[in-house]
Formats: sequence, structure tokens, C-alpha cells
Amino acid sequence: MTGKTKVAVLLSGRGSNFVALAEACARGEVPAEIVVVVSNRTDAPGLERARERGIPVTPIPGKGVPREVHEARVLAALQGAGAEWVCLAGYMRLLSEGFIASFRHRILNIHPALLPSFPGLEAQHQAWAYGVKVSGCTVHLVDAGCDTGPIVLQRAVPVLDDDTAESLADRILEQEHIAYPAALRLLLTRPWHVDGRRVLFT
Ligand code: GRF
Repeated sequence: MTGKTKVAVLLSGRGSNFVALAEACARGEVPAEIVVVVSNRTDAPGLERARERGIPVTPIPGKGVPREVHEARVLAALQGAGAEWVCLAGYMRLLSEGFIASFRHRILNIHPALLPSFPGLEAQHQAWAYGVKVSGCTVHLVDAGCDTGPIVLQRAVPVLDDDTAESLADRILEQEHIAYPAALRLLLTRPWHVDGRRVLFT
């Protein structure tokens, strides 16, 4: 027994948020252990970053596979690894109500905008093109909607006049790497509950 919460990470891409979580766990800042990294893309660079760290990986290809079949495979991998929490880190698939019910209020996502503004894809570009003066990132509990679950933590990032969508995305990503471990740490170390849409720490 390590006394650490077992966390699974689901990703589809480069995996920088996974790395931020893994490093925060390794430094002891988050009382958790990443027990498996699952990807719906066999070529996701994040898988290699997990292998380098000795973290078990399970690629479960999603293309052309019915959602219920794919989700059943993912669920089996998570249960096989003993995962208690799930962190989505650039996971490009929506999860069904049934999947979410298996980890009620134990699935987190990070989104690169201040929700409820700019949900969905390319949020940093959406925010930049809209002309907002402040954007940022949001860590939230996952429900069956797209980026709609109760908010745990947000970090703001000013939008500068000479920003491009890319430079803004880079600065938001730096804040994501702080926000995601901080949110997980809060949820694992403090009493909390969900009141309506509000996540309240007591
Ligand atoms: C991040 O911007 C995250 O907010 C979004 O997808 C991106 C994943 O990046 N959900 P990475 O794979 O963690 O580097």
C-alpha cells in the first residue's frame, strides 16, 4: 500500500499535461500514482513519454470502432489497472453517460479557455479571434457534455495586443501545467462536494 490514489490518464496527442501530472506526482506534490496511460491513438507521442517514465501504456485504437465497444475496452483497462480517478489530458473523444457513471465525479478534464466561454476544439484560437482580453484554462469534472462539467479551478492569462493564437496557446499551456496538478491535489487532499454546478471545498 502506497497510500496514493491510483489515477489513469487518457490522451490522444503530445501528452504535455500528462507529463505535468506525472512529474507533480513524482515530486510528491500530488498524492497520486499514474497507473496507466490509455490512448485512442496508437501513434500518440504521449504514449512514448509514458513509456520513458516506466508508466504502463495501453493503446486502444478508436478509429472505426463503435463507441460502446471502445469504451468497454477502455473501462476494462482502467479497472485492470485499479484506477480510482481518470484524468483526460487532450483526449479527443466524448465519454458516454454510462462510462462517466462508472467514475462518478472522479473524471477530470483540462480545457484551454475560461469555460463556459469557448468550449470545443481550438479554444485558444476561438478566444484570440473573438478578441477577449483575458483567457486561460479550466479544470473541470467531466459530464456527458462537451466541456460542460462543474469547474474545479481556473487560471487566467492576459491576451496581449501582439499575441498570435499560437503565442497565446503557449502561455495558456504553461498555466495548464500548473492548474492540472493543483486541481488534482485539491480534490485528493481537501474535503469537497458538488452543489448544483459548484464544486465547493470545505
Ligand atoms: C491541452 O491544451 C488541453 O487543454 C486540451 O488538449 C491539449 C492537450 O495538450 N484539452 P497535451 O497533449 O496535454 O500537450
